[in-house]
Amino acid sequence: MRLLIKNAHVVLPDGIERVAVIVEGSKIAEIDPAPQLRVDETVDAAGLHLLPGVIDDQVHFREPGLTHKEDLATASRACAKGGVTTFLEMPNTVPATTTQERLDEKLRLAAEKSLVNYGFYIGATPNNIADLRHAQRTPGIKIFIGSSTGDLLVDEQATLERIFAETTLPITAHCEDETTVRTNAARLAGTQDVADHSRIRDHQAAIIAAQRAIDLAFRHRHRFHVLHVSTAAETELLADHRNLLTGEACPHHLLFNTGDYARLGTLVQMNPSLKTRDDSEALWRALADGRLQVIATDHAPHTLEEKQRPYPASPSGLPAVENSLALMLNEVNQGRCSLQQVVHWLCDAPARVWDIFGKGRIEVGYDADLVLVDLNRSQEVRNEQQVTKCGWSPWHGVKLTGWPVRTWVMGHEVFNDGRFNTDRRGQEAQFDHARGGYWATNE
Ligand code: DOR
Repeated sequence: MRLLIKNAHVVLPDGIERVAVIVEGSKIAEIDPAPQLRVDETVDAAGLHLLPGVIDDQVHFREPGLTHKEDLATASRACAKGGVTTFLEMPNTVPATTTQERLDEKLRLAAEKSLVNYGFYIGATPNNIADLRHAQRTPGIKIFIGSSTGDLLVDEQATLERIFAETTLPITAHCEDETTVRTNAARLAGTQDVADHSRIRDHQAAIIAAQRAIDLAFRHRHRFHVLHVSTAAETELLADHRNLLTGEACPHHLLFNTGDYARLGTLVQMNPSLKTRDDSEALWRALADGRLQVIATDHAPHTLEEKQRPYPASPSGLPAVENSLALMLNEVNQGRCSLQQVVHWLCDAPARVWDIFGKGRIEVGYDADLVLVDLNRSQEVRNEQQVTKCGWSPWHGVKLTGWPVRTWVMGHEVFNDGRFNTDRRGQEAQFDHARGGYWATNE
């Protein structure tokens, strides 16, 4: 099967060019200004931009165990709609993904259900070091250094030292200091004000835990990725990366701040908590100057009924996977950043951080994970149009300009302007950890 996508402005590694892209089977076969070929299908993409598919390296898709909130079928449809062609999913499902057996079970479920490509992290516990050492078919190890949704937590120094010393997979962590959070929660016990969430999970909680994890990474010379950076101070810690540290920001920390509790209440309760407008500005600066490399959603669906419980009974987290690309394209239209920066943060950098083989760029020989976007389309995010099972968005009612309209996964169309093609499944992402990660592959 040979597919020709013509007349699009194509975001290539070195610039945006109006070239044709030829897909053969699951791969990008040719990039050519004037192809003279016989093809099976031609897509005339005049007026649109062609991007590599988004790789979201931080999602919570709830299967197994919490499938009333989301499952791999609904979540992967949300991905296809949002231009996300590969996701890496977190281990705080029920049961948690802490052994090879549970990883294999998730891989089996995804092979059956996921429209897009997938990978799953293995979660650290105080006593699964052997599982972490021998884990296969995974991007890396996730540590909850502070507790969040679920029961995964490792905050004992001796255990953390062993994980960093005795394992080889890249490590990533949820950084919020458990002692600080508990002390603050005790001080504010009895509060029902969701704005206190940012006083309980405060700046210090994030900074102390990030500093602690970074120190472990340096001493053990272990590759480490800081998830959902939320404070200006953490971005400063990331300046001295020593070719070991990478970091990421989430759309909610870039686009919301503590001023939004008044309007959105517990809908914007998440961990790490929202911080100030100055912190959001610092995250944008860190993305621009390369201290942060990745944007990922931390898509964390809970039902509206769960979210509407009075704080602190309301769970933390919000859905975003089907709107993250549109949110960023809207920022391009607002002049906040360039389309090429968006492609770097959402597509190329995550592939390099996690050693994902053959993805993240439009280049000959790469996987044909592609998304066509219409930078001129203006449309409101509407709860009733969300395909995530939880059926709501914190951006409900917000008009965004710039939307994904058509998505291919390994050369197969999975989404076309509102319609899903559910005949095909995505594939397991391949990780080549011997390549050495972000810094080595960008030299
Ligand atoms: O707000 C959050 N929700 N942060 C996390 O780290 C976990 C997530 C969830 O799984 O609900």
